Amino acid sequence: MTYLPAKTRYDAMTYNRCGRSGLRLPAISLGLWHNFGGVDTLENARAMIFRAFDLGITHFDLANNYGPPPGSAEETFGKILAQDLSRYRDELIISTKAGYWMWPGPYGEWGSRKYLIASLDQSLKRMGLEYVDIFYSHRPDPNTPLEETMMALDFAVRSGRALYAGISSYTPEQTQAAARILRALGTPCLIHQPAYSMFNRWVEDGLLNVLDDEGIGCIVFSPLAQGVLTDKYLQGIPEDSRAGKSHGFLRPEQVTDEKLDKVRTLREIAQARGQTMAQLALTWVLRRKTVTSALVGASKVRQIEDSVGALAHLDFSQEELDAIEAILRA
Ligand SMILES: NC(=O)c1ccc[n+]([C@@H]2O[C@H](COP(=O)([O-])OP(=O)(O)OC[C@H]3O[C@@H](n4cnc5c(N)ncnc54)[C@H](OP(=O)(O)O)[C@@H]3O)[C@@H](O)[C@H]2O)c1
Repeated sequence: MTYLPAKTRYDAMTYNRCGRSGLRLPAISLGLWHNFGGVDTLENARAMIFRAFDLGITHFDLANNYGPPPGSAEETFGKILAQDLSRYRDELIISTKAGYWMWPGPYGEWGSRKYLIASLDQSLKRMGLEYVDIFYSHRPDPNTPLEETMMALDFAVRSGRALYAGISSYTPEQTQAAARILRALGTPCLIHQPAYSMFNRWVEDGLLNVLDDEGIGCIVFSPLAQGVLTDKYLQGIPEDSRAGKSHGFLRPEQVTDEKLDKVRTLREIAQARGQTMAQLALTWVLRRKTVTSALVGASKVRQIEDSVGALAHLDFSQEELDAIEAILRA
C-alpha cells in the first residue's frame, strides 16, 4: 500500500528555531537508535515513521552504528525512504553521525577526517541519499586535534554531503572551541546533541549557557531516560521493553528502586496536570528555551502519539517546578 501523508501534518506540531540559524526543528524529533535495526520488524518501523511524519515530526535522527547490527537502522530508513518518502525529501531533516566504533582497524571510530568522511559516504549509501541535513561528530576525540575533526565537518558541508554541522556530547569548553573553529571555517555549528532528562542534568552545568551565547541549537537525547521516565517499569521489567531485551542499551540494573520511587511521585504531578509520566518528562526538558527539540525513541506507534501529546500542555507553574525539583533532589 502506498503511504500518503496526512494533510493535517503541519497543523499541531510546534517548530522551534535551532539556535540562531534559519532552520526550525519540531519540538519532538524521532531517533532510530533502537527498534529500527535488522533484528526488528520493518512493518513496525514503517508504521512508526509514517505516524511520526503524520504528526508533524519532520526530523529523523540516525547514526552510522544504529542497529543492531551496526548500519542496519540506516538501511531500514533507506528502504522506507525509497519506497514511500522520497517524494517528501524536502520536508525532512535527516541527520547521521560518526564517532563510535563502526569497523575494525585504526580508521573505524573517533574523530579523524579519514574516518568521518568515509563513514558519511557509507551512511549516504545505506540510506540512498545524496546528502544528509545534519552531520555530527558523535563524540569528542581526545587524541585527534579538534581542528581536524571540525575541518572534516566543514568539508562534509562544503562537498555537499551535508547541509549543516553538529556535535554531540562535547563539554562546554570543547563546544566553545569547536564553535570558534567552525565559525572561522565558515560553517557555523548548527546544533549540539547532549543527553538531558530529569535523571541526567549535566547540561545545566554550563553547556546550555554556552549554547545560548554561541547561538547553537540543542536537541536533547534520551529525555525519557531510555524509558525509565515512563510508567512502564513500575510493575517490573516487561519482556518487550528495552531493559527486557538482550540487545537493549538499558540494562535491568539501571532501573533502580530509587529511580522508580521518584517516577511514582512525579507521576502524581503528571496526573494533576492531565499528562502521562512520559509527557511530563518531555515537557520538563522543553521548559528550557535553549532546548530546540526533545529527541525521543519509540518501539510502538502509540508511544510517539503519547510523546507528541506533551506539546498540548507546555507551561509550568512555579509550584509545579518547585515540587519536581524537590523530588529530583531528594
Ligand atoms: N548522540 C548520542 O550519543 C545519542 C545517544 C543516545 C541516543 N541518541 C539519540 O536519541 C534518540 C532517543 O534516545 P532514546 O531512545 O534513549 O530516548 P528516550 O525517549 O529516552 O527512550 C525511548 C524509549 O522509551 C520508551 N518510550 C518512549 N516513549 C514512551 C511512552 N510514551 N511511553 C512509554 N514508553 C515510552 C521506549 O522503550 P521500549 O523499547 O522499552 O518500549 C523507547 O524506545 C535515539 O534514537 C538517538 O537518535 C543519541
